[in-house]
Amino acid sequence: MFKASSVPLVTLPTALREFGKPSEYSVDLGKCENCAVSTLALETIRNPEAGLLRDHWNPQDSVLRQKLAALHGVESDQVFVVSGGMAGIKYAFDVFAQSGTKVGILQPDFPFFRYYAHRVKTDIAELRNSVFPFKHEVEDIIRFVQDGGRDMLIISSPSAATGARKSVSEVEEIVKSLPETMIVVDEADALDAESAAELTLRYDNLMILRSFSKFYGLAGLRIGYIVVPAKHTEHFDRMIDILEVTSLAVLAARAVLDDANYQKETQERTAKSRAMMEEACIGTPYQVAPGTSCFACYIWAPEGVEDPRDLLARYGIHIADGQKCFGISRGGRINLSNPDEVLLAAKVIKSTKK
Ligand SMILES: Cc1ncc(COP(=O)(O)O)c(C=O)c1O
Repeated sequence: MFKASSVPLVTLPTALREFGKPSEYSVDLGKCENCAVSTLALETIRNPEAGLLRDHWNPQDSVLRQKLAALHGVESDQVFVVSGGMAGIKYAFDVFAQSGTKVGILQPDFPFFRYYAHRVKTDIAELRNSVFPFKHEVEDIIRFVQDGGRDMLIISSPSAATGARKSVSEVEEIVKSLPETMIVVDEADALDAESAAELTLRYDNLMILRSFSKFYGLAGLRIGYIVVPAKHTEHFDRMIDILEVTSLAVLAARAVLDDANYQKETQERTAKSRAMMEEACIGTPYQVAPGTSCFACYIWAPEGVEDPRDLLARYGIHIADGQKCFGISRGGRINLSNPDEVLLAAKVIKSTKK
């Protein structure tokens, strides 16, 4: 008999755009993409040779893998090119989990971890922190995994919800303290090359996944990568689709890695927005979660104060709904990539100052 799937429905933070249709919001800060694209990447894929569209190309492009390996100080055969951060998460579960595997997830965190954990019918436990700024301390994470005998832990760093990042030494402490647990660190939201990837040279229980969708502005091309310890490369060789990514995605990824100006500009835009939001909150009941190091900051206010997402919505500014995306009852996530738009949100927040 047909049995309905228990896998949760996929609800995206904001509706995906449809070709030719304008965005329904006047100011949309609920997105999770860069607001700009690398001109170098754009030039590289403009007017492609016919063969690039006609032929199959090796997704495990040696030039791209070498560039990525050099960026993170690992060996190129530890790097696999995949079709975005989402594919990295999926492959982590394909390789390291099966029905009944005890998986640990933080709450709040990237909601799709739960989705992929469900797909392979794992036994999921959550470490929840509902108190602003929703931080999970390293020692709490370690205790949660040890007490629950978790076989696998998946976390995002920077956090998809708050933007807070675990330092490389914090990741090392987790990995070192939990040698029996596979630790998957999703660095899709990182705005620089700083990464715990180098630890895969020394620890067999760590996998890193990263994306070209955010910092590198290639979300529409679907490309990302994973870094795994040498011990596991054979498994990934077997699991990853031999036609995983497109030729244009590989070319654009190669180009954007060389576009230092674009990368610097993205970092500067984000830093400017972050400073504006932090400054706007001073003297108001609104707060942004500290330590954000990605495109997003989480804005929050206690009970008794108008929820920031309602306040901003009254001015036509949409932010990612904390409840829908992360199970956080108040507040939401603001995309920081475009300071011109963030300025409008900052003005609204500032106007509440008594
Ligand atoms: C933490 C995290 N992981 C993975 C992804 C998915 O990235 P991609 O677009 O490369 O599949 C996102 C994007 O929203 C994210 O924030």
